[in-house]
Amino acid sequence: MAIPRDFINELIARTDIVELIDHKVPLKKAGKNYSACCPFHSEKSPSFTVSQDKQFYHCFGCGAHGNAIDFVMEYDRLEFLDAIDELAGQHGLEVPREQGTGTRRDEGLSRDLYQLMEEASLYFQHQLKADTDKQKVVDYLEMRGLSDDVVKHFGIGFAPDSWDGLLSRYRSNQDAQDKLLTAGMVIAKDNGRRYDRFRDRLMFPIRDRRGRVIAFGGRVLGDGTPKYLNSPETPIFHKGNELYGLYELKQKHRDVDKILIVEGYMDVVALAQFGVDYAVASLGTSTTAEQLQLLLRNAHQVVCCYDGDNAGKDAAWRALETALPLLKPGDQIKFMFLPQGEDPDSMVRKIGKTAFEALIESAQNLADFLFDTLAQKYGTDKGNLAKQAIALIEKVQDTVLQNLLLENLAHKLGMNSGEDLKKKIGFNTKVSTQPLAKKGLKGRGTPLRLAIALLLQDPKVGFGLAVQPALKHIKMAGVDLLITLLDITRTQQLSSAQLLEEFRNKPEHGTLKKIAQWEHQVADANVLQEFKKSLIWLNNQYIEQRYQELSLKQTHTKEEKVQLSKLISIIKNARNTK
Ligand code: GTP
Ligand code: MN
Repeated sequence: MAIPRDFINELIARTDIVELIDHKVPLKKAGKNYSACCPFHSEKSPSFTVSQDKQFYHCFGCGAHGNAIDFVMEYDRLEFLDAIDELAGQHGLEVPREQGTGTRRDEGLSRDLYQLMEEASLYFQHQLKADTDKQKVVDYLEMRGLSDDVVKHFGIGFAPDSWDGLLSRYRSNQDAQDKLLTAGMVIAKDNGRRYDRFRDRLMFPIRDRRGRVIAFGGRVLGDGTPKYLNSPETPIFHKGNELYGLYELKQKHRDVDKILIVEGYMDVVALAQFGVDYAVASLGTSTTAEQLQLLLRNAHQVVCCYDGDNAGKDAAWRALETALPLLKPGDQIKFMFLPQGEDPDSMVRKIGKTAFEALIESAQNLADFLFDTLAQKYGTDKGNLAKQAIALIEKVQDTVLQNLLLENLAHKLGMNSGEDLKKKIGFNTKVSTQPLAKKGLKGRGTPLRLAIALLLQDPKVGFGLAVQPALKHIKMAGVDLLITLLDITRTQQLSSAQLLEEFRNKPEHGTLKKIAQWEHQVADANVLQEFKKSLIWLNNQYIEQRYQELSLKQTHTKEEKVQLSKLISIIKNARNTK
C-alpha cells in the first residue's frame, strides 16, 4: 500500500509546519524561528523551536525533532499512513495508493467489504421504515425514548427476523456472499449453508474514524439473550482499536476538550440525545491502550464513566493501569461512578443534561482515584500500600504526573516531601530531558559534514549542479550519503522536509535528522558559496588521494602517467594560488 513519493512531497509542500503546530501548541515568534514549551516533555521554559525555512521542529530539551509528518505522528500518536491521511484530510486531498505487489488483492477486498457494510447499514435503516415488523421496532425505540433525529444521526436500523434478509439481497452474487462471510455478517454452518448473523435485532453501525461502517452491534428487542450480538473480528474490524460513537462525535465537534467513555451503545446514543454529545463506548471489552490513545489524540481530558458497583470499579482500575504509561504532559484522565443500578442512559433521563454534566465535572482525578482505591484495599497496611503505589508510579512516563503522585504518596505516608520519599526508596525519576543539542552537534565539523548539512537544510543549492565524478572515488566515511543527496537534489527542487522524507525507513534517516538540526552557523547569504567551497575541498581530497596513490606505485600505465602529471600541475597551481 505504498503512497507515491510525489504525493508525500506535495503534502509536505502544502503544509506549513508553523501553522500546523501553532494550531495545537501556540507558538511565539523568537528571532527567525518560533518557539513554545515542548509538547513532548514537561518543561517550564520553552526549548521547542519550529523553523519556517526548514519546515522542521526541534526540541533542545528532549531532542524531539522532525518534519510535519513526524509532528503529526508524534503529537497525534498516529502511524505513518494515518498521519498521511490526517494531513491529506486537512488539505482536502485524496491519498493515492500505488498498486504495489502483493497487497493489491487485500486492498480490493477491503474496499468491497466497506462497500458491503455500507449497503448493509442502509438496508437495516431502510427496514425501520419498510419491514413488516416495523411497528414493533418503532414501539421499542419509543419505549427506549430515542428520537428520530438521534436514530438518524447514529444510523440505527433493524435486522429483520429472517435467516436470509441480508443474504438474499445478494442471491445471484456468490462473490458478495463470500465477502459477507468475511465481513462477519453471515455465518456458515458445517454443511456449508449460510445464514444471517443478525436477526430480529436493533442495529447500531460501528464506524471507523473515516466514517466507514466496519461492524455492527445488534440488540434484541426485549429480554432475549444474548442481549447484544457484536460483529466478530474481521479484516476491517478490530474491536480493541475502535470506539463506538467517535466518528459521530467528530461530526458534531471538530475539537473537543473532553470525551466521556461509557460502556454501552445505548448510553452513547441517549447521552447524545440529551445534549451530552461527546461520549463514546468501548466495544464490550475493557478499555484498551489503543482506545485510550485514540481518545487522548482527540481530547486532552478523558472521563471514564462506570457503574458504581464492583464491576464498574474493577473496570475503572483496569483503565487506570492501562493509562498510566500512556499519559503525556497535559493529558488528563478522570473517573466517575454512577449510583448503584444506574447507567448513563438511565441517569441522564432521570436528572437531565445540566445535572449530568455536574457529575462529570465532579469526576475524580487520577491521583484521588488511585489513592482512594489503594486505601480501601490496604487500609492501615502502609507498607503494602506504598509498594503497590510505587509499582504503579514507576509506570508513569510523564514526569510532572509522576512527581505529583510521589508527593501525594509521601504525604499519605507522613513524609515531608516526594524528594524524601525518593531518597528513602532510591526512586529514579525518568530522565527524559537529555540536552541532546549540546552533545557535539555544534561547531563546523568537517567540510564533508558541512556539505551534507548545507545541502540537507537548503536543498536548492544542489539543484542543477553538475555531476561530481570525483566524489565516488574518495575514500571517506559519509561521502556516499552526500552523493545520494546530490543525486536527488540535482534534478528535483525539494524542500528540506521533503528531502528528509525520502529517507524515512532507511538506515540514514536518524543521522540525517540530526544533521538537519545541526546549527552550521553559515549565514544565509553565504550558504551557496560555502557549499561550493566544500565541494572544491572534497574534489581536492580526491586529487590528493589519487596523487598519493599513484605516486606510491612503482610502475605506471600510460594513462596513469598522464593522470599523474595532470595531478601534479593541479596541485602546484592550487598551492600557488593559496
Ligand atoms: P441496554 O440494556 O440496552 O440499555 O444496553 P446498555 O447500553 O446499557 O448495555 P450494557 O450496560 O448492558 O452493556 C454494555 C455493553 O456491553 C454493550 O453496549 C455491549 O457492547 C456489551 N454487552 C452487553 N451485553 C452483552 C452480551 O450479551 N453479549 C455481548 N457480546 N456483549 C454485550
Ligand atoms: Mn442501559
